[in-house]
Amino acid sequence: RQVVATDMRGEQVIVVSNREPYIHLQSGDSVRVQRPASGLVTAIEPVMRACSGTWIAHGGGDADRATVDGQDHVSVPPDNPCYTLRRVWMSKEEEQGYYYGFANEGMWPLCHLAHVRPVFRLTDWEHYKTINQRFADAVVQEALTDDPIVLIQDYHFALLPALLRERLPNATIITFWHIPWPNPESFGVCPWHEEILRGLLGSSILGFHTRLHCRNFMESTDRFLEARIRLEESMITFDGDHTQVNSYPISIHWPAPEEVGLWPSVTECRSKLRAQLGVKEDHLIALGVDRFDYTKGIVERFNAVDRMLEKHRELRHRFSFVQFAAPTRSALDEYQLFAEQVTRLAERINARHGDANWQPVRLIAEHQDSDAVTSHYRAADCCVVTSLHDGMNLVAKEFVAARDDLAGTLVLSEFTGAARELHTALIVNPYDVESTADALYQGLTMSRDEQADRMRSLRAVVMEDNVYRWAANMLLDAARLRRSERISARI
Ligand code: G6P
Repeated sequence: RQVVATDMRGEQVIVVSNREPYIHLQSGDSVRVQRPASGLVTAIEPVMRACSGTWIAHGGGDADRATVDGQDHVSVPPDNPCYTLRRVWMSKEEEQGYYYGFANEGMWPLCHLAHVRPVFRLTDWEHYKTINQRFADAVVQEALTDDPIVLIQDYHFALLPALLRERLPNATIITFWHIPWPNPESFGVCPWHEEILRGLLGSSILGFHTRLHCRNFMESTDRFLEARIRLEESMITFDGDHTQVNSYPISIHWPAPEEVGLWPSVTECRSKLRAQLGVKEDHLIALGVDRFDYTKGIVERFNAVDRMLEKHRELRHRFSFVQFAAPTRSALDEYQLFAEQVTRLAERINARHGDANWQPVRLIAEHQDSDAVTSHYRAADCCVVTSLHDGMNLVAKEFVAARDDLAGTLVLSEFTGAARELHTALIVNPYDVESTADALYQGLTMSRDEQADRMRSLRAVVMEDNVYRWAANMLLDAARLRRSERISARI
């Protein structure tokens, strides 16, 4: 943290993301400001504080310009203002096209290989272009110098880097793509694949979670554009501009001892969740915590629970699978259909194995605040992450951070970025029901010694590669790039 703050002093840092770092919620006649439980804010806020930077985001929340204060600029955090939040506004129709349509019905399924067909509508694309342009205008307005450092977040802004490169040629533009990048065949189905690549190649540095996604991006560029690709150096030259393509695996804030000291004990957490479910103290619990999204493999994990209960009848009445699923993007059909499918499956499994006294699957489709989630992590015997495709997956890392008692096991899909780092988890292919069921059983019945050995290694990885390192690595690469560009400008 210190290194970045020192290296960035005197530089202007502008962050662009779709969601605001502080959500403005309408409560009665006043506006309440809430901090989202987002790793991004945790990672970037220290840099913003050190540089008095500007964060540009969609002025969403559940209040729009008319109902909130209507101001474009607000100082945040509310209790200790030290940087500026610049809000960009959009109409409902624009939000529908740019966010729900192109970003979430187009790019999201395009980049996640989860067998949901992406939908590409010309009208959504037009709104996406308009909104990217609007954010470009906002960045240019906020730039105090001709060479700010701009940190662009995610698939909502694929066109923004090139729009900025044109208008701020000396800026250092770092774009981080938080979701996977598919292989060239899959990517090529997007009717605007060339525009998307050209847009992203306005970046000085383009980051993905894993080397595999970097390679997929370079291969897509090679397939569709006349660009010079130097694989060994991870460098693309296109239209005379260079883009460095690097992997920066995102992580979480590693809790300090004084924070851990405030957590309720594992015994308290275990009793609380079991009391909530109306089961005995020694009841085994496996846990899922996800956004209610079709990429998360919730159907596959329920099928594994079903199979495990067929194979291990001794677990009847002694085990429950608790799935917390936070509603998300529910205005979209695909998400509603998915929630219905998962609910029906849970009911079928409960009807097949359960009875009046015991339901093996508990599906709780509600948002949980971060204290509650930590308590659930500490209460569980096994945490299950079975994403069909996931850039990183922070649930896996949060679970590990919550287990200072070195107990609990992690079942983790091989199709997550996290599986590249968390080698001592029980790694599964969620499409393989049989072996996922076996891994779940193994996780529930593992000896305490083996749990501790595995958990110790997992914790060492997450503690070391925490979210500050993620942000620091990107910013240090940017600082190096700026130094070398300034030196070559002087020669
Ligand atoms: C993914 C994306 C993030 C996004 C999050 C929540 O993790 O990579 O950019 O913030 O989903 O999605 P939402 O659509 O609710 O912002």
